[in-house]
Formats: sequence, structure tokens, C-alpha cells
Amino acid sequence: MQLGGQPLYRELSFSVEKNEFLCIVGPSGCGKSTLLRLIGGLLERDSGEISVHGQAPATAWQSLSYVFQSPRLAPWRNAVENVMLAAELRFERPDRDALRTKALALLDLVGLSRDAQKFPSMLSGGERQRVAIARALIVEPEIILMDEPFSALDINTRGRLRNEIISIWGKTAKTIVFVTHDVEEAVLLADRIIVLTGKPSRVCEIIPVDQPRPRDVRANAELAAIRQRLEDMMRTLETHES
Ligand SMILES: Nc1ncnc2c1ncn2[C@@H]1O[C@H](COP(=O)(O)OP(=O)(O)O)[C@@H](O)[C@H]1O
Ligand SMILES: [Mg+2]
Repeated sequence: MQLGGQPLYRELSFSVEKNEFLCIVGPSGCGKSTLLRLIGGLLERDSGEISVHGQAPATAWQSLSYVFQSPRLAPWRNAVENVMLAAELRFERPDRDALRTKALALLDLVGLSRDAQKFPSMLSGGERQRVAIARALIVEPEIILMDEPFSALDINTRGRLRNEIISIWGKTAKTIVFVTHDVEEAVLLADRIIVLTGKPSRVCEIIPVDQPRPRDVRANAELAAIRQRLEDMMRTLETHES
């Protein structure tokens, strides 16, 4: 993939299993966001292969949805209408009553059952991001691509949303590809962690995390060891470009 006249990746190859929670970490600028955009078909690749259920991303986009770092809500729509919007844009002539019912159920799932009528300006950062998660779910994707979705939130909200995304993932059996620069977050969430090098990036290491959830890095020596290893790797990768 060429961006700004330079190759962004070299020998970048990995797969994601159905129902897997895959985290991707790597130094800033190594191409994590671009990778999600390529998988999601928002950006066209110029070389290599990407397959989503054996289909090209441009064909498979209906089985995917996104959660970005900022919630990107429509300010003139309240929470439930923001959730509905994703389905209105994706499906032709949706049944609005049925959609509303579904959107309300999803707001309930993300802990916002009492805030459905609130506009984005009346919601906290964490609540807005919950709306964005409900909006990603209403289109019934098989795969959710999440790009540092909790990094703009305060530490307590971040902790709560991490637990919630694990619970939602458990209830809905989605495949999640989750980009983060926070190695502890990756250790808490992932089935496997893919570590990318600086650009031109390649897969530096793939680390399985076979520990039950919910996880507490302080109470689990195995998790603490993985976090330490990741921190050491990131320090090396960030100081020595590529
Ligand atoms: N549209 C673009 N044109 C040129 N360069 C770009 C473009 N988008 C991203 N880049 C560059 O590609 C690299 C990867 O960007 P990005 O995927 O956003 O990294 P990450 O999410 O890992 O921080 C960066 O060096 C960035 O400057
Ligand atoms: Mg990014």
C-alpha cells in the first residue's frame, strides 16, 4: 500500500477467526487506522490481498461496521434516532417502527435505556461512545472494526466500556478487530494481539492471551508478563523506526 509516495506495509499478513476478539497494536503512524479502512473497504488497496469471508472488502461491506475514536453522531438527532440512522442509510425502505424498537433494545444493551431521547450535546463522552457502539450493532454486522474507540475517554469510563464491550461481544457473538495503542487495553480484551512494527510495517509478533475474562492484570501474573513484554516491544519499536 503506497501512501504519500512511500510503501506503508511490507509482508503484512494475518487472519482473523470468526467470533475472535483481535487487537492490533503498533507505534503511531504504522498504519493501524489505514488497515481498518482497507479491511472495511473505505480505502482501496493498491497491492496485496484482503478477503472478508472470501470476498473483496468492497463487496463484503454489509457484514462490517465501524466504531471510531470519536463517536461522530448527528447533533440534530437524539440517541435512538442516531442509532436508527445507520440502518436507514444501509437498508432500503426500513420499517421505522421495527427499527426504533431494535434501536431501543440496543441502547438498553449499552446501558442507555433512560437516555434514548437525549441529543448528543446532552450526553457525556462515554455515553456518546455507547451510542456509537449501539449504532454499529443495529446493522447486524458479523465483524466490528474498532479504531481506538475508548482512547478519548477518562480512565474510569474507559474501564467500564472495556468491560461492556466484552459483555456485548459475549452476548452477540461478533468478530471484533480492535485497534489500540494502549497495551494494557489489548491484554484485557484480546484473544490474540497482533503487534505491528513501525512503517514500512510488518507483523512483529502475534501473542495469544488464553486467560478467562473479566481480566485483572494486577491479579494475574500471566497477564502482567504479557503486558510487560508488550511494553518492552513497543518501547523498542517506537525508538527504532521500523
Ligand atoms: N491520505 C493519506 N495520504 C498520505 N499519507 C497518509 C494518508 N493517510 C495516512 N497516511 C500516512 O500513513 C501512515 C499510517 O497512518 P495511520 O493508518 O493513520 O496510522 P496509525 O493509525 O497506525 O497511527 C502515517 O504515516 C500517515 O501519515
Ligand atoms: Mg490511527
